[in-house]
Amino acid sequence: MQRPTQTAVPRHVAIIMDGNGRWATARHLPRMAGHSRGMDAVRSVLETCGRRGIEYLTLFAFSSENWNRPPDEVSTIMRLFMAALQKEVGKLVDNGVRLRIVGERISLDKELQRLIVDAESRTAANDRLHLTLCVSYGGRWDIVQAARAALRESDRPEAITEAALGRHLGLSFAPDPDLLIRTGGEQRISNFLLWQCAYAELYFTHTLWPDFSSAAFDQALAWYAQRERRFGRTSQQLAANS
Ligand code: IPE
Ligand code: IPE
Ligand code: MG
Repeated sequence: MQRPTQTAVPRHVAIIMDGNGRWATARHLPRMAGHSRGMDAVRSVLETCGRRGIEYLTLFAFSSENWNRPPDEVSTIMRLFMAALQKEVGKLVDNGVRLRIVGERISLDKELQRLIVDAESRTAANDRLHLTLCVSYGGRWDIVQAARAALRESDRPEAITEAALGRHLGLSFAPDPDLLIRTGGEQRISNFLLWQCAYAELYFTHTLWPDFSSAAFDQALAWYAQRERRFGRTSQQLAANS
């Protein structure tokens, strides 16, 4: 895994897309209307990534814990996800976006698994923007599955290094996120990229996900550009090296 370096534009942005339900409830709409409107925000963020030259965008779409929601809501979210895969993949292909889905696939519906394999293979040759959707994903699940995979290669305790685990994590193809955004007002990680966000800059906004516009994203990027990323060192050391 590469350690992120200081640049004005983050290479990798990860987003916890929260607040869909509250957005809908405030309008006396079913929660699903919020999830559906959330798709528009995804399109707009993708477009901004293209304009700003962001290379990796990772979106938290459904957590390991979200399986505990009412079955109706879970199945409607999954249906929306399937419909979006069918409808949007052609556009991703045209725009040079490589799509990956990371999470515990075995827990997903067979038809959804098939659509995922198809979408990933159709976009596999693209490299302009790497879009990753975390579905049925939890940071703890990721670390445990990586540890198991590393142990399958070697059961010597010394073989379990940061690099060896990193190779088996769901996001092994990407540098660590530089910027983690959470919409919806909560200031917590909710089991997202626990390992990978060791040095991410954390940006929390009260804006609900369906309202997260290009302008709101630009604000987060402007905030990021002002951070001094020290990675444990001192400001003086950074100044001496620049
Ligand atoms: C995020 O919005 C989407 C998912 C977790 C699937 P929420 O559905 O959590 O919306 P709020 O937090 O209840 O408003
Ligand atoms: C986090 O949102 C998960 C996703 C955005 C997919 P939640 O709404 O599930 O998080 P909590 O339950 O408020 O921590
Ligand atoms: Mg929520």
